[in-house]
Amino acid sequence: MKTYLVTGGAGFIGSNFVLYMLKKYTDITIINLDKLTYAGNLENLKEVQGNPNHIFVQGDICDKDLVTTLFEKYDIDYVVNFAAESHVDRSIKEPEIFAQTNVLGTVNLLNCAKNAWERESGWKEGVRYHQVSTDEVYGSLGETGYFMETTPLDPHSPYSSSKAGADFMVKAYSDTYNMPVTITRCSNNYGPYHFPEKLIPLLINNCLNHKDLPVYGDGLNIRDWLYVEDHCKAIDMVIRNGRIGEVYNVGGHNERTNIQIVKTVIAYIHDNVDNTVTEDLIKYVEDRKGHDRRYGIAPDKIKEDLGWYPETTFEVGIIKTIQWYLDNRQWIENVTSGDYKHYYAKMYNN
Ligand code: NAD
Ligand code: TYD
Repeated sequence: MKTYLVTGGAGFIGSNFVLYMLKKYTDITIINLDKLTYAGNLENLKEVQGNPNHIFVQGDICDKDLVTTLFEKYDIDYVVNFAAESHVDRSIKEPEIFAQTNVLGTVNLLNCAKNAWERESGWKEGVRYHQVSTDEVYGSLGETGYFMETTPLDPHSPYSSSKAGADFMVKAYSDTYNMPVTITRCSNNYGPYHFPEKLIPLLINNCLNHKDLPVYGDGLNIRDWLYVEDHCKAIDMVIRNGRIGEVYNVGGHNERTNIQIVKTVIAYIHDNVDNTVTEDLIKYVEDRKGHDRRYGIAPDKIKEDLGWYPETTFEVGIIKTIQWYLDNRQWIENVTSGDYKHYYAKMYNN
């Protein structure tokens, strides 16, 4: 019976991970620590409500007393750190909370894990700290080439810089204290429970509500889209069998320009849901400051070491995703009814 401390498990990827793991394994316990910011929603975890193998704790990863208590109370084998402020646009407006949660929160988790796991003779058997990072730490690509694990870190936004800072602290705990750690750096995820401030769910939500679809700059920035379940599978494989101290890049082999994504979403909704939704909704707006041009991952290492590959093609994943949002309109309504409404109104004046 392995015990996981999963942080940020009420957010987009974290909740998908919790659901994936509890469906796959009946012999694990997950302690799910989440602050429930605007991006965290208990509704994402409805499927595991009442499951004795899932224990939800509302709290902050920066809270030393709380995290120490969790290590004392539960015999934690693995920490999987998803908790973060994750939206680039927000980081441009309010960088401080990104440094606080993403860097200092990570350091607090590392430190509490070290206090609980380190022995005079070495480290407790079988334990591991896993950091969920992003390909954005590598910066931006030109028209060719891919991010490799050996690519030097060159982050640009306050978000990606805070994630790079966290990665360096994880590396420091490995290099200095020999702490057993792994890091995954993934490309842009999409799928169910994605908060509708990020591109794909925002487009779906706005199409359904006949709102403008804001496209930053020329719409030709490229992202490499990864279906969230494929990402969860990769993390599970890395925690179980990834080599200690290593970084694994996880990518979907699904590079698309933003405008291609916009047109794909419009076309599906037009053909299957509402034929009044057309490309007239597209609105080119001012570019994001410091907007990274292209992200792209060659996930060769994780394929060779662990046999992982992205199973879900973009054509299949995007339909599954749009369909999920159509079937869960109340979820969108619920998660956007709080602070987000004001934020959205301020951003887009509507
Ligand atoms: P998200 O914003 O949807 O969820 C973040 C979760 O963390 C929320 O539930 C929030 O309540 C929680 N949280 C925030 N601050 C906290 C704190 N101080 N203490 C405890 N909990 C806190 O983010 P996501 O998209 O699910 O991303 C999860 C992780 O994956 C992040 O670390 C992010 O950097 C990384 N990542 C995401 C993507 C992506 O495409 N979404 C891509 C690469 C990497
Ligand atoms: P986003 O989903 O915010 O992810 P990230 O910035 O982490 O890659 O944005 C994906 C791409 O879509 C990025 O190039 C910015 C662009 N974008 C828009 O054009 N319009 C939007 O309204 C949003 C949210 C993003």
